[in-house]
Amino acid sequence: MSICFNNEAKQFYLHTRSASYVMEIYEGCLAHIHWGARINQAPLLDELFPHYVGGGFCASDLPGRITDSTDILPQEYPSFGSADLREPAIQVRFETGDGLIRFRYHSHRIYNGKPAPEGLPSAYGTEDEWETLEITLLDEFTGLKAVLNYSIFYEQDLLARSAKIINSGALSCELQQAASFAMDFHDDRFDVIHLPGSWGRERHIQRTSLDHTSIRLDSKRGSSSHNQNPFLALVRPETTETAGDAYGFCLVYSGSFMAGAFCEQFHTTRVQMGIHPHNFSLRLTPGEAFQTPEALLVYSGKGLGEMSRKFHRVIRKNLCRGNYRDTARPVLINNWEATYFNFDEEKILTLAEKARKIGVDLMVLDDGWFGKRDNDNCSLGDWVPNLRKLPSGLDGLAKKVNAMGMQFGLWFEPEMISPDSDLYRAHPDWCIHTPGRPRTEGRQQLILDLAKPEVCDYIINTLCGILGSCSISYVKWDMNRNMAEVPYAGHGHRYMLGLYRVLETITGKFPHILFESCSGGGGRFDAGMLHYMPQTWTSDDSDAVERLYIQEGTSLVYPTSTMGAHVSAVPNHQVGRITPLDMRSKVAFMGRYGLELDLNKLQEAELDKLKEEITFYKAYQQLIHCGDFYRLASPYHSNRAAYQIISEDKNTVMVFLFNVTGIPHMCADRIHLQGLDPDGVYVDIDTDKAHDGSALMYVGIPSDNRRDMLSTVRIFKKQ
Ligand code: GLA
Repeated sequence: MSICFNNEAKQFYLHTRSASYVMEIYEGCLAHIHWGARINQAPLLDELFPHYVGGGFCASDLPGRITDSTDILPQEYPSFGSADLREPAIQVRFETGDGLIRFRYHSHRIYNGKPAPEGLPSAYGTEDEWETLEITLLDEFTGLKAVLNYSIFYEQDLLARSAKIINSGALSCELQQAASFAMDFHDDRFDVIHLPGSWGRERHIQRTSLDHTSIRLDSKRGSSSHNQNPFLALVRPETTETAGDAYGFCLVYSGSFMAGAFCEQFHTTRVQMGIHPHNFSLRLTPGEAFQTPEALLVYSGKGLGEMSRKFHRVIRKNLCRGNYRDTARPVLINNWEATYFNFDEEKILTLAEKARKIGVDLMVLDDGWFGKRDNDNCSLGDWVPNLRKLPSGLDGLAKKVNAMGMQFGLWFEPEMISPDSDLYRAHPDWCIHTPGRPRTEGRQQLILDLAKPEVCDYIINTLCGILGSCSISYVKWDMNRNMAEVPYAGHGHRYMLGLYRVLETITGKFPHILFESCSGGGGRFDAGMLHYMPQTWTSDDSDAVERLYIQEGTSLVYPTSTMGAHVSAVPNHQVGRITPLDMRSKVAFMGRYGLELDLNKLQEAELDKLKEEITFYKAYQQLIHCGDFYRLASPYHSNRAAYQIISEDKNTVMVFLFNVTGIPHMCADRIHLQGLDPDGVYVDIDTDKAHDGSALMYVGIPSDNRRDMLSTVRIFKKQ
């Protein structure tokens, strides 16, 4: 058993391969003792607090104990109710007007497997892979319960936490906040790593010393957003890629969220994450319950790299689903940056034919194929093909593309409605709005109110109708604005539940279709969406240099298998930068490879080069997406970047070397490989030269730094 309860010590132990998580029932409170390197037995909490600390301004709600105040006690799901005046995980307003909760241990159970939070995305797996501890806390004054869920995934030192709040009392209440988890670390010697950004520059790595203060990361935008990702890591100041403690937290949710690390007077750190309490409120009448989203918690004692690889393995195999989870995916060409709205059937077929000749498998038709949409002013919601542009309709076009030997894919923005659309004229009340207030548009569009079941049903029926009517192998599911004028507090979460129902139904009905989510690029790149769609368009910014930053930031949590990455034209449409085709292609190798440019404008030599690149990518895509990813050198710290992917059997190693800006008159850099067998012999497949594993790791390989925008891929096979 990896989870056990020591009845005498009243301690819970959750052991994974190299970590332990320990809690103690202390005067009925659920206290946190340890999460980190694996231990056999923890001291009792009283032994860890040998002298009295309270007094002062800490009220004594645990009289007679050394730790006589919950204001000092390290806790697992703190509430506002008596002495603990730190950040609460849960806030409630009862009919009586008060908001006091005093949770105490009520019961627990331990079982194999892992429950799936109803209606929400979550990690999954077999009964052998997961084991669960469920602890019920009760406030005896109101009957409010919190059922805390701890599911462990032994192999990857991963813990999935969530909470179910049950009103088992006689009074109704407004639930104003319910974090997915909370936890108190004993000290605050941490750096916080998070992924802020904006459109076109998503998920840039930020590392900040906690320094006895508090850091709150959030999105109040109705989606996980470009601006912050629902992820944070706490690391020791000395933690590096390869050494030191790293605690990673990732919320499996796509709506507004809040994540925080809060330092307190005794230099402790409370970390928590969940649905954003801002504008959140939910009525719980007696007997009703609320389920929080799930959070994934990973511990690594070997630095950030190992933390990321643990997240990658679980997200790849135990969060993403569907036919494409493990199989190779088609190399695609998307017409967006090639034509924007200015296309017709002939242009698309010419592009497809050129693409087919160089090995592309899938032609994706982006925005502009429906209604009267020639720009972004109209027609969202009118999912009827524009016969002026596509005279043989979707079916005719799909058949022609198929006849070339290619698959056909289509762009949708199903959650949106243009005020200038037949759908809006028929259902002006279907968009998110508050009666009597303006309907603020973003990109000239409004959002369909997925909190309304009839709107969800409409989307399901419309999409299923189109997807069933012709041969569509791929869908790009876009979402291009944030929410405004939401009609009531708690609406955002109802919207997400509606969206998840729509996604579950549609993806379930069309398992052969590869779905890619998108939100103006990576505005909804989160573990929630990845549960339904195994890849996300990483960013609208396809510039190779910017992508190094974005993809490295994304790789802190999400595997290469989830990142859409395309080769686009130069000068780049977002930043105007000119980068060599070779570099654009090598950067795109580290994701789900595709093209997004007008092939008619390329020289023959460039087309030949792309053909070679696609052949190479196809030969190695399983290695790239199923292997272990290492960050060897970071563009955040220097003018270069280097990454490594090693196959699961450890026999094939792929190394990516990039030099962004050249340094004149300088010796070559050395890049040190990682995770090899030190006694193994590795042969470079280009030169046939054998290398000693330990030398590749500890002496390193040279990386040319003399010129701008250099890129090299080297492959080593173990003999
Ligand atoms: C968003 C997407 C782009 C493209 C356009 C179409 O911005 O991120 O890739 O699909 O919409 O309007």
